[in-house]
Amino acid sequence: MKDTKMIHIKNGDDLNVAAEILKKGGTVAFPTETVYGLGANALMEAAIDQIYVAKGRPSDNPLIVHLSSLEMMTPLVENVSEKAKKVMDVFWPGPITLILQSKGVVAPNVTAGLSTLGIRIPSHPIAKKLIELSGVPVAAPSANLSGKPSPTEGKHVVEDLTGRVDAIVIEEQSEHGLESTILDMTQEPPMLLRPGSVTREAIEAVIGSIEVDPALNKKMAADVQPKAPGMKYTHYSPDADLKIIQGPLEKVVTHIQTLVNNTKGKVGVMCCDETLKEYSAEVVLSLGKRSDLTEIASNLFKTLRKFDELGVDIVYCEGYDTLGMGQAIMNRLNKAAGYEIINL
Ligand code: TXA
Ligand code: MG
Repeated sequence: MKDTKMIHIKNGDDLNVAAEILKKGGTVAFPTETVYGLGANALMEAAIDQIYVAKGRPSDNPLIVHLSSLEMMTPLVENVSEKAKKVMDVFWPGPITLILQSKGVVAPNVTAGLSTLGIRIPSHPIAKKLIELSGVPVAAPSANLSGKPSPTEGKHVVEDLTGRVDAIVIEEQSEHGLESTILDMTQEPPMLLRPGSVTREAIEAVIGSIEVDPALNKKMAADVQPKAPGMKYTHYSPDADLKIIQGPLEKVVTHIQTLVNNTKGKVGVMCCDETLKEYSAEVVLSLGKRSDLTEIASNLFKTLRKFDELGVDIVYCEGYDTLGMGQAIMNRLNKAAGYEIINL
């Protein structure tokens, strides 16, 4: 057990303490604009090992390296294409990770043996400041225990990682609430490996058409390997059995209510503000306004955790169109549901 230091930014606690821990090879969880990350010095193999241990993460799943400036990137990667530079220019700092050719400078366990490296410059002021103060590239997966939804609030990290990491920097709810978009820039055309709040449409507006990993929205068959190793795991999986019902909204509402009426046990419904009043079930939670997919995305993981807290056995969830942000929302929902989807 580690004696985890809690650093509350709102109470004026000193971020320098966290930066010092990082620099010396410790593990520090911190807020970013996507989800909370669990950071360690990307140049120190022993520090990186502690991340895998703290999360219970399979060692074949590489980590994203977080930087506070473009200058920090130069020693780490090579063959950065013009398209990659354009994407950086438009979307960094922000919620998109680029896969680039590694120079092999980071510790080998950061990339889990791959010759490529995922890089992101976060826009969250605390994340930026922490990396700047530590002065080192910071490898950071989401700060959840493996198999739990990514943490979007400090209290989720405290629940998952107290006693397992050296420090937790606590701040408000993450703005986007879904992990960063991952775009592989080592191939032409570039390939979307994980959808996020920087949408496919927004990327294509900048660099033209991109490919999408064909493994993205399918249940993983033994012969299809996603290019982002982490995407093969059923992450974000709640304790409750989750089923998605997709189709015209009115039909979906009627169908879910019928399912609820015919299901034994503690039954939950995950809906939106627009349909909240239509359901009668033991637990009915809204993700926010369907007309604002950004809001739906930012509340998704904390709502999944809420169902677990309430000990719900089965959750029926409304589906979303897969345009824009809808693609990222349905990707996470599909994974959480093990691709159990009823199409009406
Ligand atoms: O928003 C985010 O990206 C958050 C915050 C903390 O920045 N981090 C995050 O990290 O979601 P993690 O470890 O939970 O997810 C990283 C994903 C995994 O699916 C991993 O397999 C993939 O990125 N990945 C990392 N390096 C890669 C590489 N070189 N090639 C392909 N996929 C890679
Ligand atoms: Mg993760």
